[in-house]
Amino acid sequence: RRPCVVSTVLLLALSAACTGASGSEAPPGAHGAKPGAAGVGDRLFPKMGNGGYDVTDYRLKLDYTRRSKHLKGTATITARATSALSSFHLDFAGLHVRKATVNGRTAETKRQGTELVLTPAADLPKGRAFTTTVVYDGKPKTIKDPDGSEEGWITTDDGAVGLGEPTGSMAWFPGNHHPSDKARYDITMTVPKGLSAVSNGELKQRRTNGSRTTFRWHSGEPMASYLATVAIGRFDVHKTTHGGLPQYVAVDPHLAGQSTKVPDQVGEVIDWENKTFGRYPFSSTGAIVDRLSGLGYALETQTKPYFPFAPDEILLVHELAHQWFGNSVTPRTWKDMWLNEGFATYAEWLWEEQHDGRSTDRTFRDFYDGTDDESDGIWDFPPADPPSAARVSDSPVYGRGAMVLHKLRRAVGDKAFFTIVRTWVKEHRHGNADTKQFIALSERISGKDLTKLYDVWLFGKDKPAKP
Ligand code: ARG
Ligand code: ZN
Repeated sequence: RRPCVVSTVLLLALSAACTGASGSEAPPGAHGAKPGAAGVGDRLFPKMGNGGYDVTDYRLKLDYTRRSKHLKGTATITARATSALSSFHLDFAGLHVRKATVNGRTAETKRQGTELVLTPAADLPKGRAFTTTVVYDGKPKTIKDPDGSEEGWITTDDGAVGLGEPTGSMAWFPGNHHPSDKARYDITMTVPKGLSAVSNGELKQRRTNGSRTTFRWHSGEPMASYLATVAIGRFDVHKTTHGGLPQYVAVDPHLAGQSTKVPDQVGEVIDWENKTFGRYPFSSTGAIVDRLSGLGYALETQTKPYFPFAPDEILLVHELAHQWFGNSVTPRTWKDMWLNEGFATYAEWLWEEQHDGRSTDRTFRDFYDGTDDESDGIWDFPPADPPSAARVSDSPVYGRGAMVLHKLRRAVGDKAFFTIVRTWVKEHRHGNADTKQFIALSERISGKDLTKLYDVWLFGKDKPAKP
């Protein structure tokens, strides 16, 4: 979530990189093997993700030197071919590829913008698992989003952070960078001694060898690549277990004074969200509080949301709610993002209502009337249909998305509404889901025809008449 409205600047350079035509020119091979497509057909981000395979595991072995800002990496990617492949793509921006192998044999590589095309020594049969390694290095770059904000690899005053929704991960590792392909991750990062590396999941090993320290982090539950992160710098670590769940909160010492409540608040918010949405979906929880004043947003990076400043409680509510909505139940395409942001925003409204704040009816009215700070621009487009990549993180997706959920709640009643929410989270746990499925589920559980409600509030181009 962004604390302020960032203007939507269309960056032609990135648009060109992300919205070209799909397909690749390599000739089809023997036994029906064909080149894998350069994208998965996402209308808003046609070049993101790749066709013909499904990643199961990423093993990233990374090494970062703060002074030279140099990253060295070996990505070992295990995937299953979903069609017979003569070549396939990975999304990768910047950096130098030193060597690539597929199933242990050298593969030919070619760079085309943010596409890395690999041609293995032998065709890959449909259905078979295969392992790709890419050895790379260089100075990773910061990517400018279509909406003008920054992601990818960003240096801080004591280190750096790799993160990014929707496309930032391609700046620090090659992969199938689309939310529809979730995988397990093992991220190992070596940094100068004295610095820490914090990532998703659980810390499995920490070892100092001479002047360098290695941290190995493991994410056993599937993760979409836009939720991967690694934060390097000096951190005070607050390690606890909360209701049996390991909790790891890393705080930049500069923000220690402003963050004293964060570890307890994370626990408190998780407890409330557990009760409201159903059991927390991951093996650990936490937060990363870093000092990165240039970054205008927090991000719900899996198990440990990233905050570029000390978060207040309502921002924790938002980013932690994403662990259910977005991280466990992940949108199938980028235009389904209102299912992330609408729910995370509605979690804020519910928290406020249940903690002596505004009622959700009041918040709904404030958004409708335009008197809430975050209601600017919410009628610009329907939440389920952002007109371009530049607008997937705009206010209709957030505020008007939450309004759709509130209208649904009032139409079906609290009992059915919370059953819908918990069933959604349970049925699609660790998977992908889309808007159509949400509509179908809400109609199934409530036994109501909700066509009109969704037509007006979710798909309607104009501001609906005052309810
Ligand atoms: N999903 C993040 C949140 O709601 C915000 C991501 C902003 N990214 C961007 N490219 N504008 O917390
Ligand atoms: Zn959000």
